[in-house]
Amino acid sequence: MGGPVSQKHIVVGVCGGIAAYKVLELLRLLTKEGAVVDVILTKNATNFITALSVEALTHRRPYISMFDPLCSPYTHIELGQSSDLFLIAPATANILGKIANGIADDLLSTTVMATTAPVLLCPSMNEKMFLNPIVQHNLSKLKAMGYYVMEPGSGELACGATGPGRLPEPQEILEEISSLLSPKDLKGVRCLVTAGPTREFADPVRFISNPSSGKMGYALARAAAHRGAEVILISGPTHLSPPKGVKLVKVISTLQMRDAVMAEARRSDIIIKAAAVSDFRPKMKFEHKIKKDTSPLIMELEENPDILRELGELKREHNFILVGFAAESQDLVANAQKKLLKKNLDVIVANDIKMEGAGFGVDTNQVKIIVKDQGILDSGLRSKDEIAHLILDKVKGLLGELHKGP
Ligand code: CTP
Repeated sequence: MGGPVSQKHIVVGVCGGIAAYKVLELLRLLTKEGAVVDVILTKNATNFITALSVEALTHRRPYISMFDPLCSPYTHIELGQSSDLFLIAPATANILGKIANGIADDLLSTTVMATTAPVLLCPSMNEKMFLNPIVQHNLSKLKAMGYYVMEPGSGELACGATGPGRLPEPQEILEEISSLLSPKDLKGVRCLVTAGPTREFADPVRFISNPSSGKMGYALARAAAHRGAEVILISGPTHLSPPKGVKLVKVISTLQMRDAVMAEARRSDIIIKAAAVSDFRPKMKFEHKIKKDTSPLIMELEENPDILRELGELKREHNFILVGFAAESQDLVANAQKKLLKKNLDVIVANDIKMEGAGFGVDTNQVKIIVKDQGILDSGLRSKDEIAHLILDKVKGLLGELHKGP
């Protein structure tokens, strides 16, 4: 069990460009995710980063020359054939030209020629070089042949010029790799995810809310998109960037979230309510900032609609898989099971908010995934991305049953 990158063999080709330094961080991230990472440094790359740094981060000796003692006469074939994904970052004008024109004159170009794995190219160079028609022609040719190309970012480049040519950030490349390695088992499925907190304003500057960071909901949206689903993410205020390929609908209050959810619900195959919704809102919202000397100040609250419960009612007429969350500080499973029945859910993800490394704000979580009329899966402590995939695995099973009909 693990994320899509875990236990995958990833070969990373590094060329001689200044952005090579950024790849060290990517190697760290890939190794942390559980990938087995083999690195091929071109001769020029060794002028920018060292074999020692690569080995320290991947725990494996990088390959540099076809003819050094680490290589056998078949290393290029073995590496090419055993890889699940082949990444070249930074991909210089030189390597793009070589691959596009079938030149295999060193270890990297020979190994990429021998691979049958998906190849992801991350071009990075001076903007005039990148926009050169020869480079652009080579990129078009490579895309047409099925190579994946991550567009470089635009901005200030190391040489002082401004324009396209920046290597994407390591986290973005990791996301692209996760997407390429994810099974596309949710293709054709429409998935609605809610995330983050809601805010209930009492006056223009004060609100009732909770510490939800939105990380679990965003991880679910990202994982579903990687698995090929069409994803609509309805999010309360967070500091997170929406995952690539996901339609983001921003809301603030619970009432806004309800309207946005209900507008999309009937067209959805899966609805996952990971948002930490405010149960109450101030009965009266002051138009101007409440002054300190307003006394006595007693704030009356009224109950917000329970969006999940409304969805549970809608589910009686419409076929979708409904997943709720239960944030509990005691009697985790019993309380979650009650919510599952009361709100007519298919799955409930129970979260013990008192447990260390779980719940609000952190990158990890530990949950119990309870599927109606089926067992309970304890996730153990994992990254929220991994937990998202576990939840989707369960949902995927139910989706099969839903589409089979009675
Ligand atoms: N939820 C919702 N609308 C609300 C409150 C909660 O849609 N007004 C959803 C949450 O998104 C979550 C689930 O209901 O998926 C459970 O939320 P939780 O806060 O654990 O439980 P509540 O139903 O609010 O019950 P209680 O606070 O009494 O535990």
